[in-house]
Amino acid sequence: MSKLTLDRILHTQGFGTRKWCRSLINAGDVSIAGQVVTDTNTPIETDGLQFTIFDELWTYRAQVYIALNKPANFECSRKPSHHPGVLSILPDQFTLRDVQPVGRLDHDTTGLLLMSDDGAFIHTQSSPKHHVPKVYVATTYAPVTEALIELLLKGVKLHDEPAPLAAERCERLDEHHLSIVLEQGKYHQVKRMLAAAENHCTALNRSQIGNLKLADLGLAPGEWCYLDADRLALLAPPFSIGD
Ligand code: URA
Repeated sequence: MSKLTLDRILHTQGFGTRKWCRSLINAGDVSIAGQVVTDTNTPIETDGLQFTIFDELWTYRAQVYIALNKPANFECSRKPSHHPGVLSILPDQFTLRDVQPVGRLDHDTTGLLLMSDDGAFIHTQSSPKHHVPKVYVATTYAPVTEALIELLLKGVKLHDEPAPLAAERCERLDEHHLSIVLEQGKYHQVKRMLAAAENHCTALNRSQIGNLKLADLGLAPGEWCYLDADRLALLAPPFSIGD
């Protein structure tokens, strides 16, 4: 349970500076349960709070956890240079409340991308120490052979990496597709592993993080959803990928 004044509530939710939020409230643009609220002095219970700004209904969230089905040609960088940033897909409020991608996908990689403004969550999900498995489906230029799968499971040496990197799991799906499970997230890791194994990745999609499957979220490319507690629980151990 926590109580905040309405201007502070709007500020925490990414609607702008306290001053700007007060001006929205004073102008009668904010309502709660159908009533315009102009009081910025009385603290309001935030737990379960819903409010309307310019006729759009919002639910107060102390922190946001988002799953995006990332389309191709969007960059995960905070300062994108060649393509629009993934944050441009979300409402502006999320940029203002400092929502960030959890790790990075290349601009041409598609699929499941988590985003949040919870620093501890971002750290847990992206740190290799926490061993959160990520499943990718790679399209390959040359056919997928058993030798390729064995090599990716055994480990391949990448330039600048002291030790060979191996897939946790790797399976042939069909002649030009394989699924690969990684717990680290080194720069271009799947593409570089395939190149080191003398193949070439022509397309890459992340289909699963931990036990959370993109297919279960029903998101078309470019669509996103909030992750509720049940879905967040799928991002914590124990993980049962491919069992
Ligand atoms: N590995 C890659 O090569 N690219 C990604 O975007 C993710 C993993």
